[in-house]
Amino acid sequence: MKQGPIGIFDSGLGGLTVFHDIRERLPQNDYLYLGDTARTPYGTRSFETIYQYTRQGVAALLDAGCPLVILACNTASAKALRTIQQKDLVRDYPDRRVLGVIRPSVEAVGKISKTGRIGLFGTPGTVRSDSYVLELEKLYPQAVLHQEACPMWVPLVENNETGTPAAEYFVRRHAEALLARDPGIDTIILACTHYPLLLPLIRRFIPPHITLLDQGPLVAERLDDYLQRHPEIASRCKRDGSARVLTTGSVELFDENTAIFFGKSLHGEHIELR
Ligand code: DGL
Repeated sequence: MKQGPIGIFDSGLGGLTVFHDIRERLPQNDYLYLGDTARTPYGTRSFETIYQYTRQGVAALLDAGCPLVILACNTASAKALRTIQQKDLVRDYPDRRVLGVIRPSVEAVGKISKTGRIGLFGTPGTVRSDSYVLELEKLYPQAVLHQEACPMWVPLVENNETGTPAAEYFVRRHAEALLARDPGIDTIILACTHYPLLLPLIRRFIPPHITLLDQGPLVAERLDDYLQRHPEIASRCKRDGSARVLTTGSVELFDENTAIFFGKSLHGEHIELR
């Protein structure tokens, strides 16, 4: 098989936070990012819809020659990854790989937490799927996970409202609700691409002895490790340091907002999914 870029899929712009950290860690690789901005957010949609949208996005990246695709989106990882790995890849792309963000996060949190009392902030979709609960049960059966769905956090970030009293209200409300459930919580997973942008505000309402787990650097580290352990995949990843970004929505809007998530502006190209 020809060499190709590493694909990164997200429901929209948020995955650029993960892409940023991956590129910092592995700058020599080629990347193809796809944000389904026309249909974002996924977090409030049904299981079937999220699976179909994610399947289409991943297929577009695989058809573009990516040997490996990372689902940067927690909601897509929670609701679509397993079916894509077990059904679609096996049938249509047996030599490719698709990885999500849940397993690396759970592996990390199990090592960091001393009390085994873990908190999670996520979209309603991620929380309802119980994917983190199931993964934690497999890897660290003695640990307890307390999940808090934060439906307003993504819209606040998307609308650039992170510095407003509204953001403060909603962050405080969910932080207090989570902490009230278990005073023993010592680690909290920020299980959504958008939450790193709320990190300073979240920190204000979470005591300093509690670790807040930002997924970007962690996913980047695990990808690095994966490529070292899988030379048969790594050798098929092109390494010219290039990056292309695709959007299903308006290119103008995409370009305007990339800097919020990526730290600098990127120029998107339009793609239709079906
Ligand atoms: N990318 C999604 C996630 O990480 C957040 C945005 C959405 O709901 O689509 O869960």
